[in-house]
Amino acid sequence: MDLRPIGVFDSGVGGLTAVRELRKLLPGEDILYFADTANVPYGGRDVGQLRALAAAATEKLCGLGAKALLVACGTISSNCIGEVGKASGLPYCGVVLPASRAAAGTTKNGRVGVLSTEATARSGAFERAIKAAGEDIEVFSYGTGLLVPLAEAGRTDYSDMDVREAVNTAVEPLRDKGIDTLVLGCTHFPLLAGAISRAMEGVTLIDTGEMGAVEFASILKENGLLSGRRAGGVLTCLVSGDKRSFAQSAAIFLPEDMGSVRIENA
Ligand code: DGL
Repeated sequence: MDLRPIGVFDSGVGGLTAVRELRKLLPGEDILYFADTANVPYGGRDVGQLRALAAAATEKLCGLGAKALLVACGTISSNCIGEVGKASGLPYCGVVLPASRAAAGTTKNGRVGVLSTEATARSGAFERAIKAAGEDIEVFSYGTGLLVPLAEAGRTDYSDMDVREAVNTAVEPLRDKGIDTLVLGCTHFPLLAGAISRAMEGVTLIDTGEMGAVEFASILKENGLLSGRRAGGVLTCLVSGDKRSFAQSAAIFLPEDMGSVRIENA
C-alpha cells in the first residue's frame, strides 16, 4: 500500500481527459495535477523549451512526493518523455504509445489519422509508434494550433461558430485520406470530441488521455503502488496561471462535484 499521490501534468485542461479516466479506474488514489497554464500552449514551442517546461513540471511533482508520473500531454510525450522518466526516477508513462497501440488495434482499413499540436506532428512520434504496432498501417498526421485555446476557454460545442470553423479547418487536411481511425494526439482534443466527430463522421476517435490513464493504472498495479483504498481519493489541481479561469473550464470537463476538487496556485 502506497498512500503517496500520483502526479499528472499537462499545459492546461487537456490532461483532465486522463484525470477523469483515472478517477473512474482508481477512485481511491490521491492525484496531484499540474496545469501549466502560465505557459500554455506548448504546441508551438521548440524541443529545447519543451524539455525545460517538462523538467520544471517533473521537479515540482517529485518535490511534492508523487509516487509515479503520468505525462498527460501529447506534446511532451512525443518530444521528451525519456528525459522526464530519467529525471524523475519514478515509474512513468506518456500518452503516445498507449494511444498508438489502441489506434493500430482499432483500424480496419489500415489508414489512421493523427491530429495533434504542431510540435507533436513535427516529432513523428505517433507515426513511429503506430507503425511499430502495425507495420502496414498508413499514417497521416497533421498539427494544428487552432483547438487548444478553445478548449482552454471551455468552448467545445459544435453549435459555437468559432468552434465549428476551427474544427473544420483543423481536420480538412485529413478528410480525403480515407482514414477510419483518428488519434486525437493532443489531450486537449478529446474535450472537443463531439465537434470533431461531427466534422469527421464515421471515423473512430482515439482519446489519448483515456488511453494514457488505462496504461498508467496498469503500471501502478504492476509496481505495487496502489493505495489500497477503493474511494475517497483527493484531486488537487496546481495551476501556474490564472486559477479562476482554470476552475471554470475544469468544471465543464470534470464530471464531478467541483466542491471536492482542490484548486491551488502552483
Ligand atoms: N495537451 C497538450 C498535448 O497533448 C498540450 C497542448 C498545448 O499546450 O499546445 O499536446
